[in-house]
Amino acid sequence: MRRSGHGEPSASTTRPSMTLVPGRALPLLGPDDDVRDLALPQEARWLIGWWLNKGMTAPCNRPSRWMREPLPGRLETYWGAGIRERIASQVDAIRHWRIYHTSYANAPNGEATWFIDPPYANRAGARYAYKDIDYNHLASWCRERLGQVIVCENDGADWLPFDHFHDAKATAGRGRTKISKEVVWTA
Ligand SMILES: C[S@@+](CC[C@H](N)C(=O)[O-])C[C@H]1O[C@@H](n2cnc3c(N)ncnc32)[C@H](O)[C@@H]1O
Repeated sequence: MRRSGHGEPSASTTRPSMTLVPGRALPLLGPDDDVRDLALPQEARWLIGWWLNKGMTAPCNRPSRWMREPLPGRLETYWGAGIRERIASQVDAIRHWRIYHTSYANAPNGEATWFIDPPYANRAGARYAYKDIDYNHLASWCRERLGQVIVCENDGADWLPFDHFHDAKATAGRGRTKISKEVVWTA
């Protein structure tokens, strides 16, 4: 994504409801706004679009109903001043990251912190476009990593000796609470 100079927001918008904050140049959206109307690089539209809803396979263009009518007591989890601030405050720590669009099996080994978050080996993982995973192979690959290794899964997975980690509130419908039982293996 193109970086905007601090104090010199480069983004302009066609809608009056959007606010620009110096140093935090990406705009906030009103309920009827559409990212396609924003005079921003496409990558910035995608970034905002991923925060307009949850559990989507592609970035959204408009705020979802969940974002427009947040459940009371929910932490801020959609595009807003808080999320923008969090991302902006972390940019310097990840600016050097490189993204490789390839299978994990092609990653060279080396001393690192390995955070491995594969599709769940159960029905919850079935929606990913890429999910044909040989979990025996992945387990060996995880065990071979040098450095700190953290592998996430869902309760019931047994391709590594996972321990209970956290009962996470997952995306749920109004009036019902879905809990995702997260497990973890570390080395
Ligand atoms: C649970 S998601 C990870 C989400 C990610 N950690 C995040 O927070 O956005 C699992 C990801 O593994 C990817 N995946 C599937 N097969 C893979 C493979 N052979 N190598 C690398 N990634 C793979 C899927 O495309 C999917 O994006």
